[in-house]
Amino acid sequence: MTHAFPDSPDFSGHNAPSRIECDIYDLVVEGTVPAEINGSWFRSIPDPQYPPMLGDDTYLSGDGMVSVFRFENGHVDFRMRYVQTERWKNERRARRSLHGLYRNPYTDDPSVRGKGRGAANTTPIFHAGRVLAAKEDSRAWSVDPRTLDTVGEWDFAGRLRSQTMTAHPRMDPETGEMYFFGYEASGLASRDVAYCVANKDGELVREEWFQVPYCALMHDFAVTQEHAIFPVFPIVADLERIKAGGPHWAWDDSRDSFVGIMPRDGKVSQMRWYRAPRCSAFHFINAFTAGNTVHLDFSYANVPVFPFIRAATNMTVQPHEITGELTRWSFDLSKPGDTFERHALGASGDLPRIADRDSMKDYEVVYYGRFDPQVAMPMLTGPVGAGFNALTRLEVRSGRASTLAMENRTTLQEPVHIPSAQPGHEGYLAYVVDKHDENLSEVHIVHASHPERGALARVKIPLRLRSGVHGTWVSADRL
Ligand SMILES: [Fe+2]
Repeated sequence: MTHAFPDSPDFSGHNAPSRIECDIYDLVVEGTVPAEINGSWFRSIPDPQYPPMLGDDTYLSGDGMVSVFRFENGHVDFRMRYVQTERWKNERRARRSLHGLYRNPYTDDPSVRGKGRGAANTTPIFHAGRVLAAKEDSRAWSVDPRTLDTVGEWDFAGRLRSQTMTAHPRMDPETGEMYFFGYEASGLASRDVAYCVANKDGELVREEWFQVPYCALMHDFAVTQEHAIFPVFPIVADLERIKAGGPHWAWDDSRDSFVGIMPRDGKVSQMRWYRAPRCSAFHFINAFTAGNTVHLDFSYANVPVFPFIRAATNMTVQPHEITGELTRWSFDLSKPGDTFERHALGASGDLPRIADRDSMKDYEVVYYGRFDPQVAMPMLTGPVGAGFNALTRLEVRSGRASTLAMENRTTLQEPVHIPSAQPGHEGYLAYVVDKHDENLSEVHIVHASHPERGALARVKIPLRLRSGVHGTWVSADRL
């Protein structure tokens, strides 16, 4: 007997677990999918097999599901499979959840003490022919790019020392290298961070460790053609609290933020730390070096956007009290001291995407999701609570923005950018649309240059896709 999932925001409505592994050949398409879109769009979705052991949990604990939309000559096929992690296998064998609080092994069932807890639920990274389902608290799991069958935990052929790998590596479009890091590299709540580089063939060619000022939730980082950038915001881990069965993360409003910058091909001993105001950020849009200055673009908020982190800190914040914007922080490395310049880029939002070719260099356009209270009332979906109801294209130099408002009672998930082979063509954006009344999902495709003109094609999915986290576009010639 499997008990019901809780009736809490992370497990009900559009967030109700799906647990469906499936193959659907030739999804129904309204409109026309441009024939030049040819490739695979991989996505990661947290989707718990079993109800939480302790009665409730965060969305972010869900077992990783990897799905793929395969586009070919106007047709779209779909496949979705669980990543068969050690955690997933142990729970399947026991036919129940064996894991307690988010990222707290001290609250687990004794039968899984010392066993892998990684859920592989955040990003399907594509590098050197591998799809790596990553979650930042553990190493990534390799899945077969065609079948999505689980290959196994990936430790770079035994070379990776870090116990963890970020779900946000940075790909150099010029060299094919993958830059990444692992925080809590030596274990729970440790200050050790591993800075790593894999060459274009997927071989780990560098791993150097350094210490951050305090153990923080380091969800993402940034790399330019010359520098690596490690921001640290005060969502903080504490080993004593974890050992006592408490939450892994809590907001610490006594701490400043820090940004570490080092030459990307240099030594970690060259890291220079800048002190920054207390704020919260999860995703960096892009970064680039111009002369002596490193520019870092991202979306920040005044408090953590995740309700479970605020709850761990007994913070009561009304939705309208969460403020933020897209911002650029510019660090002039020729100047002494630990201060820097800031200026606003645009309205707040998250899950930003740029064209892969623009990564690490000065660039023009970002696409991202926003919650716009002018558009509609919030609809519950995803780990933050309110789904995005607007898709914005922002030109970061001019500030010019265009926005597509979602239809009533629909929300959108993270967009992905699909390049075009046509000269001067900005490519396309694809994104999953949650249809809350029908309990179904669709994929919409728009021109990247003009999202406000609406969908060229609507790909019908005959089931509800739980809110995914991140996705990756892989053109057919790279697979
Ligand atoms: Fe992320």
